[in-house]
Amino acid sequence: MRSNDQVWGSRIGLILAMAGNSVGLGNFLRFPVQAVQNGGGVFIIPYLTCFLLMGLPLLWVEWSMGRFGGQYGAHASPFILQSIGKRRFWAYMGVFGIFTNIAVAAYYCYIESWTLSYAIHSLRGTFIHLDQKGVVAFFNQYLEFNTNFFGIPGEAIVLFVICLALNGFILSKGLRGVEMVAKIGMPLLIVFGIVLATKSVSIGTGAASTSFPEGNAWDGLNFLWTPEYDTLWRPKIWLAAAGQIFFTLSVGMGTIHCYASYLKSREDIALNASTAGFTNEFIEIILGSLIVVPLAAGYLGMDWVKENISFGVAFQTMPFLFHQWGVVLGSAAGVLWFGLLFFAGITSSLAMGTPWVSFMQDEFQWSQSKGALSFALLTLLLGLPCVLFYRYGVFDEFDYWAGTVSLVVFALAEVILFAWVWGMDKGWSEINKGAELRIPSGYKLIIKYVTPSLLLVVFIGALITPVDNNWIAAINSFLNGGGWALDHSSIISKLFQSALQEQLLLATEPQEIQWISKQLLYSNLSRFLLLGLFLMISWLVYKASKLPKNEY
Ligand code: PHE
Repeated sequence: MRSNDQVWGSRIGLILAMAGNSVGLGNFLRFPVQAVQNGGGVFIIPYLTCFLLMGLPLLWVEWSMGRFGGQYGAHASPFILQSIGKRRFWAYMGVFGIFTNIAVAAYYCYIESWTLSYAIHSLRGTFIHLDQKGVVAFFNQYLEFNTNFFGIPGEAIVLFVICLALNGFILSKGLRGVEMVAKIGMPLLIVFGIVLATKSVSIGTGAASTSFPEGNAWDGLNFLWTPEYDTLWRPKIWLAAAGQIFFTLSVGMGTIHCYASYLKSREDIALNASTAGFTNEFIEIILGSLIVVPLAAGYLGMDWVKENISFGVAFQTMPFLFHQWGVVLGSAAGVLWFGLLFFAGITSSLAMGTPWVSFMQDEFQWSQSKGALSFALLTLLLGLPCVLFYRYGVFDEFDYWAGTVSLVVFALAEVILFAWVWGMDKGWSEINKGAELRIPSGYKLIIKYVTPSLLLVVFIGALITPVDNNWIAAINSFLNGGGWALDHSSIISKLFQSALQEQLLLATEPQEIQWISKQLLYSNLSRFLLLGLFLMISWLVYKASKLPKNEY
C-alpha cells in the first residue's frame, strides 16, 4: 500500500488547479510572440486545428491515464505508464514526465521571479521617470545583477531564490496548498486580465499624438485576427502552432497525469478536462491577444511590434507604455500586469513540482516536505546556470531540449501506448467512465489515427527541417540526387550545434571567436546537466522498479 492518499478538495478546486497548470507565462508572453512572428491571422487556423486534433485529445488521454494509474497508487508518469503498458519500458518512458518538469521549472521560475520583482518595482514607482531606453537599461542591469532588492545586491538571484522557496513552501502543503493558490490566483488573474485588455484596446487610435504618431491599437487586432489563406500551407507555421498548443496546455509534460491521478476512479474526466482546456484557450486567445499587441501597437505602431516582438517586450517596454497613463494609473497597471504574470507563473510552476514530490512519496515514502524541499533545491541547482549564464544561451538550450523537443517525444509515446498498446476500446471506455459530457464519437478515430500521425509529422518535420523551411525545394533537391540540406533550426542540426560551428568557422576576430567558443562551452554544460538529471531520474525509476509493489 502506498502512503500518498491525498484527494482534491472540491471540483472547482480541481478545475482551477488544472486550468492554473495550463494557464501560464505561455499564454501571455509566448502566444503573442508566436502569433505575430508567424503572420498573425495566418497562425490562428493552424493553431485552432492543432488544438482540436492534438491538444484536446491529448488532454483526455492524459487525464484518463492519470486517473487510471492513481487507482494503483501511482501518481507520477513512470508508474502510471507502467500500470497501463505493463512493461518496464514504459516506466522508463515515464522518466520524461518528471525530467521535463524539473528542467523547465529551472528556467520558468527565473522568469516567474522577474514578474515578482517587476510587480514590486511597479508598486515602488521605479519606472515612473524612466523613458523607453531607461526601462530597457533597467532590464539589462537586472540581468547583469546590478540592481538591488531593498538594498540587497544581485536582485535577480535573490528574487529567484525567494521564488523557489515560495514554490517549495506551497508544495510542502500538498494538494491543498496547490488548490488554494489556484482558487485565489486564477480569479484574480482573469480580473486583472480583463481590466488590462479593456484599457489596452480602448487606446484605439487615440494615442496618436506628436510623441506617438505611428500608434494604432486596431492595427494590432486586425493583424492578429484577419485570416490569410495563401501562406497557410507553410510547415513552419504548423510546427509553431503545434509547439504552442503543447506548451500552453501543458500536454506531453506529465503534470496533467499527476494532477489527474488524485481523482477518484469514477470522477468525471470528459467535462472537467474540456472545461480546463477551454478555459486555457479563452485566456490565451482572448486575454493573451488583447494586452501586449494592441498596447504596443497603440503607441509604437504595428511595424514596431512586428520587428521587435519577443517575450522581453513585457519587461522592456510595457512599464514605459503604462506610464503614459500617468503616475498612479501607470503604477497600478504595472502591478496588475506583473501580478497577473506572477499568478499565471506560480500556478504552473507548482504543477511542475508535483510529479517529483509525488514520485518520491509513492516510491520512497518521502514526506511531502522533504519532496518539496528537494524539488526547490534541484531547481536551484539547475536554475543557477540559467540565471548566471543567461546571455550565453543556457536558458534557450534548456527551453529547446526540455521545453520543446521532449514534449513531442513524450506525447507521441503516450498516445501510442494509449491507443495502440492498451487499445482504443479500453482507452475510449476509460475516457468515458463517469463522463458528464458526451465526447463526439469521431474522436475515437481521431485519437487512434489522427493525433499520432500529426505528432509524427510534427516530430519528423522538426527533426529534419530543411534549409529556410523550404520543403518543396528540399524534396526536389533530394529527388534529383542533390541531398537534403538541413536548416540550423532542425533537431539534428541543433544536436550538432551547427549554427555555432558555422559561425566559428567564419569568425576572424579573436573576440568573436572567444564569444562563440563560450557559447559552445555553455551549451555543452547545459546538455551535461540535462543528461545528468535524466539519468538520475532513470536510476530512481530503476531502484523503484525493484520494489515488490511495482512487479506486475
Ligand atoms: N502551460 C504553461 C504555460 O502556458 C507551462 C507549463 C508547461 C506548465 C508544462 C506546466 C507544465 O506557461
